[in-house]
Amino acid sequence: MLTGTDIQFAVECLRKGELVVMPTETVYGLAANAFDSLAVAKIFEVKKRPFFDPLILHIHDLKQLDELFEAPLQDNYIKLINKFWPGPLTLVSSKTSNVPAIVSSGLSTVAVRMPSHPMARKLLQELDFPLAAPSANLFGCLSPTIPAHINLEGISYILDGGKSLVGIESTILMVDGNEPQILRPGGISLEEIQEFFPAAKIMQKTLDPLAPGQLESHYSPLKPFIILNASTQVHKEGAGLIQFSAASSMFDFHFDKRLMLSKNGDMLEAASNLFELLHQFESDPDISFIYMEPITENGIGVAIMDRAKKAAFRWIE
Ligand code: TXA
Ligand code: MG
Repeated sequence: MLTGTDIQFAVECLRKGELVVMPTETVYGLAANAFDSLAVAKIFEVKKRPFFDPLILHIHDLKQLDELFEAPLQDNYIKLINKFWPGPLTLVSSKTSNVPAIVSSGLSTVAVRMPSHPMARKLLQELDFPLAAPSANLFGCLSPTIPAHINLEGISYILDGGKSLVGIESTILMVDGNEPQILRPGGISLEEIQEFFPAAKIMQKTLDPLAPGQLESHYSPLKPFIILNASTQVHKEGAGLIQFSAASSMFDFHFDKRLMLSKNGDMLEAASNLFELLHQFESDPDISFIYMEPITENGIGVAIMDRAKKAAFRWIE
C-alpha cells in the first residue's frame, strides 16, 4: 500500500473524493471529504461498517464549528475546548444541514474534534472541508496505532506519522445540555472534564444507538482475549499475558510470553501501548490465547478497561 509523508499528495487524493489514512494522536483515521457523501460512503464500504454507526469530523480551526454545529457553544464549553483542543476530545451537538446525513447516520447531531497530531493539522489546514474519519480498521477489529497495523483495501494513500501517542480513541462528549455526558471514555479522563463540569458523568450503557461506540463488543482481537480474575483457568499452551507494569500481580500463573503496558506503571504510557500489544499477540503464531491483567479504573484507566472489556466481550464463554 502506498505509504509516505507526502501531505500534498494526500490533499490531492482527498480533493478527488478518495480515501486517505491520516495519523492522529489517538489512533490512525480513515479520512474522506466530509461534505462529499459519495466519498464518505466509501469509508463505510472499506471498513465494512454498518451505516448506523456515525463518523467523527476533524477540523483545524474553531471557526469551522459555525458551519457544523447549529447553535454556538455555551461559554463553559468554549473554556473546555480552549483547554483540550487540539487533542483527544470529541464534542457532539446538533448539526447544521451542511453535514450530510450519511456522516451522522441520520441522527440530528454531529461529532467534531480537532486533532493535535502535527501531520493531521497540516493536512487539515490545506483543505477547505472537514475530514470525516473513523479509526482505520475493519469494523469491530483493533484500532491501528502505527501504519503497519493498517489492513484495508480501497485507500489511495497512508500518511505515515509514526506511532499514535495517546493510543486510545478520543473521549466523546455530548454537549447539548447544561452538563456534558461522556458517551465514550477516551484520551481525556472524566476527572479532567469534572474540573470544568463537576457533575459530568459517563453515560450508562444503553441500547439506544446514540453512541454506537457503546456496543458491548468492539475493538476485538481475532484470537480469544480474556481479562484475568482469580478464577481464570489459563491455557497451558500458547498463552500470552499483557501485564500492566513490572510490579504485576500475575506471577503465579504460567504464560509463554508476557508483554508490558508500562514498565513503571504509567497509565498514559499503558494507554498508548494497549492496541499495539494486542496487535503483537494477534499476529504472533506462538500465541493462541491473549490474557490481560485488569487495571485500576480511574483516570485514563477507565478508557483502557472500556476497550479491554469490549475486546473481551465476544470471547466470554
Ligand atoms: O480518536 C478518535 O476519535 C478516532 C480518530 C481517528 O479521530 N476516531 C474514532 O472514530 O474513534 P470511530 O468511528 O472509530 O468512532 C466514532 C464513534 C461512533 O462509534 C459513535 O460512538 C460516536 O463516535 N459518534 C459519532 N457521531 C456521533 C453522534 N452524532 N452521536 C453520538 N455518537 C457519535
Ligand atoms: Mg473505531
